[in-house]
Amino acid sequence: MSKAQQFIDLEHRYGAHNYHPLPVVLSRGQGPFVWDVDGKRYFDFLSAYSAVNQGHCHPKIVAALNAQAEQLCLTSRALYNDCLGPYEKYITEYFKYDKVLAMNSGAEAVETALKLARRWGYVCKGIAENEAIIVVCEGNFHGRTISIVSMSTDPDSYGQFGPFTPGFIKIPYNDANALGEVLAKYGKQIAGFLVEPIQGEAGVFVPDEGYLKKCFELCQQHNVLFIADEIQTGLARTGKLLCCEHDGVRPDMLLLGKALSAGVLPVSAVLADDDVMLTIKPGEHGSTYGGFPLACKVAIAALEVIKEEKLCECAEYLGKICREFLRNIPSDRITLVRGKGLLNAIIIEPKDGVEAWDVCVRMAENGIIAKPTHRHIIRLAPPLVISEEELMEALEIIKKSILSF
Ligand SMILES: Cc1ncc(COP(=O)(O)O)c(C=O)c1O
Repeated sequence: MSKAQQFIDLEHRYGAHNYHPLPVVLSRGQGPFVWDVDGKRYFDFLSAYSAVNQGHCHPKIVAALNAQAEQLCLTSRALYNDCLGPYEKYITEYFKYDKVLAMNSGAEAVETALKLARRWGYVCKGIAENEAIIVVCEGNFHGRTISIVSMSTDPDSYGQFGPFTPGFIKIPYNDANALGEVLAKYGKQIAGFLVEPIQGEAGVFVPDEGYLKKCFELCQQHNVLFIADEIQTGLARTGKLLCCEHDGVRPDMLLLGKALSAGVLPVSAVLADDDVMLTIKPGEHGSTYGGFPLACKVAIAALEVIKEEKLCECAEYLGKICREFLRNIPSDRITLVRGKGLLNAIIIEPKDGVEAWDVCVRMAENGIIAKPTHRHIIRLAPPLVISEEELMEALEIIKKSILSF
């Protein structure tokens, strides 16, 4: 039995079957590349769902991790430490918000935002106790907790996990009128509107230009918090530091995760101004690891790398090249190429028994890692540190893989 198969069998035998990985077993990563246990090199076009924007094992970020690991890893928030305050100052100045609330996973950041929005709704907006509503979009993906799957319209996410958390209204994505209608009807009860600036898991669904701006203005008119889940779209991925910037919007609440640690640790954050953030008092929310010293040092390094290496500019420039190349692949299997920056997708028409999954398996054989979302969409999101030359090499492999069917 091959070495790879042994690892696959172990996961299958001893792990829960809650994922369906590609049959590739990785053991090393550097920059835009990963290597499997047999030493084969791949371009990583998944980037751990956009967590590895700064590239695998970025030396500066790993050095920050190692240095802090030898000093102090975890204190819990029962005490102060010499890392959290400087990190809070750094990240709030970086994104220009009054305050940050540090958490670990993306789902925790989303849960935190839901709690903050509800609390703000009761304390500041005067919504009657237990009546607050959060508006979300169909096709969303915000994580996997019970409350978050209660907002989902994807049966794989919510099926047989009920009973569900009440207090959500789901409206079509990319439809500002739908938001306007719901605000007109229930505005006094609505605390927040939670939205992904691009729906990543839904298949890199890019809304119309101006959609976010219209939604933001509607929220302002109705005294509703505009909450942007930038966990996947943020941190230079779409060619701007935040995807909302494309529409000139500054969210009332900003959710970050994934690339906030460059894939080194689970680090997430909620940013907001004092009127929202200070509605939660000591003892009312938190996490043992939230804002732990290692996370603080890693996140500062990860954010510095984004600026130092001009990753927004890289994503913007390379993204255009990428989409143009993909649109010129002469294959009738490709029905659409869409995206922003280096968050892109190819829409494949499933036919002759060939689906997005099969194309991804062929791409893996040829040296590119990418994963399908649904049966017909392949998301392409390489680390933003990929060079133009490397990108061109990778695109040729993608072309060859698609044309091989
Ligand atoms: C937009 C968005 N929000 C939230 C999450 C959840 O993050 P996590 O998996 O770290 O809980 C994800 C993960 O893919 C995401 O894409």
